[in-house]
Amino acid sequence: MKVIVTGASGGIGRGIATVLAGDGCAVGALARSGDKLESLRDEISAAGGTCHTSTVDLRSQNETASGIAALAEALGGVDALINNAGLVILKNALDIGLDEWHAMVETNLNGLFYATRAVLPGMTENGSGHIVNISSISGYYPLGGGSGYAATKYAVTGFSESLFQEVREHGIKVTTVFPGSVDSDSHRHRGDDGSWKVKPEEVGQAILDLLKTDAGNCISRLEIRPLSRPPKS
Ligand SMILES: NC(=O)c1ccc[n+]([C@@H]2O[C@H](COP(=O)([O-])OP(=O)(O)OC[C@H]3O[C@@H](n4cnc5c(N)ncnc54)[C@H](OP(=O)(O)O)[C@@H]3O)[C@@H](O)[C@H]2O)c1
Repeated sequence: MKVIVTGASGGIGRGIATVLAGDGCAVGALARSGDKLESLRDEISAAGGTCHTSTVDLRSQNETASGIAALAEALGGVDALINNAGLVILKNALDIGLDEWHAMVETNLNGLFYATRAVLPGMTENGSGHIVNISSISGYYPLGGGSGYAATKYAVTGFSESLFQEVREHGIKVTTVFPGSVDSDSHRHRGDDGSWKVKPEEVGQAILDLLKTDAGNCISRLEIRPLSRPPKS
């Protein structure tokens, strides 16, 4: 299977890319940090897998379209797109800067839309494909102190679940993923080593499983949560 993973340079995206490549998927890894993508490619290649990389800022529609086209060419097609890249800035509506608000909307919502639009024509033509959108628990449950982030994730949920209605009859699956607490750098907090959280590779394993469902059905929603609670501060 040929899979593009956005935000593959670190955190959950890197975990997803590593697990998929380890299962034999050819991976197209996309993010802004070329050096981190190279290290992912080296790691996957050393383990005998296939990884192509594209350095792209998803906030630019042109960059996204050409980066995805280059990955599709290198892979020889795209069977699945994992829209994982995201930016989290946890601030009240009163405190968040306009530039921070726009950066989250442009990355979490616009970037996800640009990437989706870049693969949809090919998938529609093939009559098959799978788009996996990483939302969040904050994509259906309010997050005081993070209203801007929650707004973008509610938007991802609305887009993703509506997209499923638009493309299912073209043979294209859409899954919305709702992670709880996952141990990535951007979600580390002082005094918390993150060991109680879901590991990025565990999200990767769950996504691998849902990519393997039969052609006639789709896991349209997936929620993944740690069993443990955060340590008491
Ligand atoms: N960790 C959690 O507990 C958690 C919970 C629920 C949902 N999520 C969601 O899961 C996704 C991944 O989160 P994470 O915790 O793994 O975050 P992370 O560690 O900060 O990783 C974010 C990834 O997105 C990429 N990215 C950010 N802005 C980009 C841009 N403009 N263009 C291209 N790539 C960009 C980053 O790469 P570059 O910096 O190299 O571009 C990085 O690879 C996000 O959508 C997040 O909202 C996370």
